[in-house]
Amino acid sequence: MKKQVDLNKAIEELKREKRAIILAHYYTNSQVQQVADFVGDSLALSEKAAVADADIILFAGVRFMAETAKVLSPDKKVLLPVVEAGCSLADSCDAEELRRAREENPDHLVVSYVNTSVEVKALTDICCTSSNALEIVRSLPEEQKILFVPDRNLGSYINRCTGRNMKLWDGCCKVHEEFSVAKIEELKSLHPEAKVLVHPECKPEVVALADYAGSTAGILSYCAREDVREVIVVTESGILYEMEERYPDKKFYLVEPEEGVEKCISCRDIKKVTLENIYQTLLEESPEVVIEESVRKAAAGAIQRMLKR
Ligand code: 13P
Repeated sequence: MKKQVDLNKAIEELKREKRAIILAHYYTNSQVQQVADFVGDSLALSEKAAVADADIILFAGVRFMAETAKVLSPDKKVLLPVVEAGCSLADSCDAEELRRAREENPDHLVVSYVNTSVEVKALTDICCTSSNALEIVRSLPEEQKILFVPDRNLGSYINRCTGRNMKLWDGCCKVHEEFSVAKIEELKSLHPEAKVLVHPECKPEVVALADYAGSTAGILSYCAREDVREVIVVTESGILYEMEERYPDKKFYLVEPEEGVEKCISCRDIKKVTLENIYQTLLEESPEVVIEESVRKAAAGAIQRMLKR
């Protein structure tokens, strides 16, 4: 197996040779973030994929993220290093079930969180990410009935913030559901000055503890504030790399799960992406994301409506 420096070099060479770029989510391993051309939250990554000047996009992330890139860049080859890297949220909404729900609720618009399969997006009226969810929902007429898919936690957060009464799909992110009030309060008692920054995929009682709730990009920007010197990080642990890069003088505390021996809460799926499988994927130009054209076009409509707002 190549050493990390060799791998970094070999990846850089392949990127140049093949006109490839690497997009990575903040939750990936720090070594992966270091070889990426762009690291961002789901919204920024979708926007980047739409305008990327490259022949190949390697998506260092989970399947729904790479599918979004392919939907927006049909002429580019989109590679996903680990095909089985999925997302519990995306898995919690099956396209056939959504088709039935649409039939049962013909007067509802379907707003889908970007953490969904491409087949679910194809049945969606408008997508959103955690960065723009409030804005997207507020942009819809107040009397419009909405079915929000698939995250019940993000959905109930939006309902609380906007005063809407969207019907919520019963899905959740298994990783964000692991954050507990008890463990956050324990950390807060050790670090009373620390701000609690929470991703809205967490349970409502956890979001209620937040000094700030928002997307990964929103959380990172909030850390720039003068009055934020210490932070209790209530989202997936991979974000710590970017936090410490941007704010080396601030202190960050990761939350332990209530059960088990782990010291922090991580998404096993996204952590499957490594320098080794990135190198191999670029070399072989496989696995490639392939989407049936009629599904891609329908999904593109839902994502484009989001990007245009
Ligand atoms: P962000 O849009 O905040 O990056 O969240 C993505 C995600 O998958 C959270 O589980």
